Amino acid sequence: MPTIDISSQPGKDFAGDVLIVPVFSGRERHRLPLAISKVVRQVMDEGDFKADFMEMVPLHHPNGVKDSRWMLLVGLGEEEALTLNKIRKAVGTAGRHAIKKQWASVGVVAPATSVLGHDEVQETVLEGILLADYDLVTFKGDKTEAKRFKSIEIFTNGDDTRKARRRQAQIEAGVEACHRVRDLANTPAGDMYPESFAAEAVKLAKHHKIHCEVLDVPALEKGNFNCVLGVGKGSARPPRVVKLDYTPKEKAKKHIVLVGKGICFDSGGLSLKDAASMETMKDDMTGAAIVLATLVACAQLEAPVKVTGLIGLAENMTGGNAYKPGDVLRSRSGKTIEVLNTDAEGRLVLADLLHWASEMKSDHIVDLATLTGAALIAMGDGVNAIMGTDQKLVERLLDGGNATGEHLWQLPLVEEYKELLRSSLADLKNITGIRWGGSITAGLFLSEFVDHTSWAHVDLSGGWSGKERDFRTQGASGEGPRFLLDWIMS
Ligand code: BES
Ligand code: MN
Ligand code: ZN
Repeated sequence: MPTIDISSQPGKDFAGDVLIVPVFSGRERHRLPLAISKVVRQVMDEGDFKADFMEMVPLHHPNGVKDSRWMLLVGLGEEEALTLNKIRKAVGTAGRHAIKKQWASVGVVAPATSVLGHDEVQETVLEGILLADYDLVTFKGDKTEAKRFKSIEIFTNGDDTRKARRRQAQIEAGVEACHRVRDLANTPAGDMYPESFAAEAVKLAKHHKIHCEVLDVPALEKGNFNCVLGVGKGSARPPRVVKLDYTPKEKAKKHIVLVGKGICFDSGGLSLKDAASMETMKDDMTGAAIVLATLVACAQLEAPVKVTGLIGLAENMTGGNAYKPGDVLRSRSGKTIEVLNTDAEGRLVLADLLHWASEMKSDHIVDLATLTGAALIAMGDGVNAIMGTDQKLVERLLDGGNATGEHLWQLPLVEEYKELLRSSLADLKNITGIRWGGSITAGLFLSEFVDHTSWAHVDLSGGWSGKERDFRTQGASGEGPRFLLDWIMS
């Protein structure tokens, strides 16, 4: 993390690499400090900048604010249409520009507006710039240094900064968790496999005083995790299940279980994917990464609830020992599953874990999984699909998504479609055999293993971004922990 200062200064005296100035379009009504507003006015009057949402103009040593090497104007669009998410994205876009230029000391002017509270504006400016502060260089050259910020100053021009300062720790923990998910999901499957992921979990748990248990193959056999074992059989890298427990010091108000799909690589198994579909399948453990990162953040923030994380780690591979289309697996719950497509493996791993989660008699269960390509078809990669049996829980998570800009949209668990999962040979089959409603039927499949009244399932269509946009880098988006923390911390 860079050093962070939320200052009551106006920013005109900032001496650093770049001063980021968010600007509203139309008549310049907002109260920018005089020296800065003079510059902005000139650029706008000459027609070089309209301040459309996310429009950017860099200025070198601008008049009046000479101590900053650069000033970077970024548009917010119409003030009337301003939202926190627009601030987060505009500041994040400017942040990505600054990162690529290797401008290490940045100042950001918090926009003064009557449309939103100044404390939430300040917090969001900080979050936007921190979310942009990401660069994975592990695999580039020898001496390449990560491009990251060294210092961040937020200028509030006399507004009260106390509330934002109090929220700073939660913002930092949320962003750190986001970056952790990006790191884990961007790491190639050759390096991030069930054992190495489990080792990472053990290391982080130890450091953050989270109780951690790893089930290896004999333990999984003993515990009847036959679906996890079935999916993992084709790989030379054996499966693992990780259980993490964060318990608050004071008596916990609630107990939440988070369940994550951790397929470290999804080749499709014998129902093999084509080459293009396999390219990003190192990210099929994004749900697991979210669970791990969220637990770490809960420990850092001393969350008032008990949180258990269950992570199902396996590689879905072909091989002489791989499970086969037509095989029947006896899940941990005792229900049998006819595997007609080995590429519908996530729901198998989750079946065992959701059954285990149900035994814990917690208040809520939430699972996170890159479960279906159909979720991407339905939502695109900017929105995640959510469904569940407890409407209140689903709505609380939808609210968390809106508050953090990690968008979720609900799909219905259509009861009538359940019959599509009936098998003539076993209790269930793992695919319906028809393409329509693939995310819903996958959710319905999971529901067969949940014995709980309050469950939600998130199908992570927003986990991977094909291109860089706003504060997101190309690759893993890191979405998940921030909307979960919004819920958990309240
Ligand atoms: N991990 C995939 C889902 C996925 C695909 C996520 C593409 C992101 C991008 C999952 O294991 C899978 O392969 N699902 C199949 C299910 C089908 C066989 C019923 C799918 O969506 O094609
Ligand atoms: Mn698959
Ligand atoms: Zn998968």
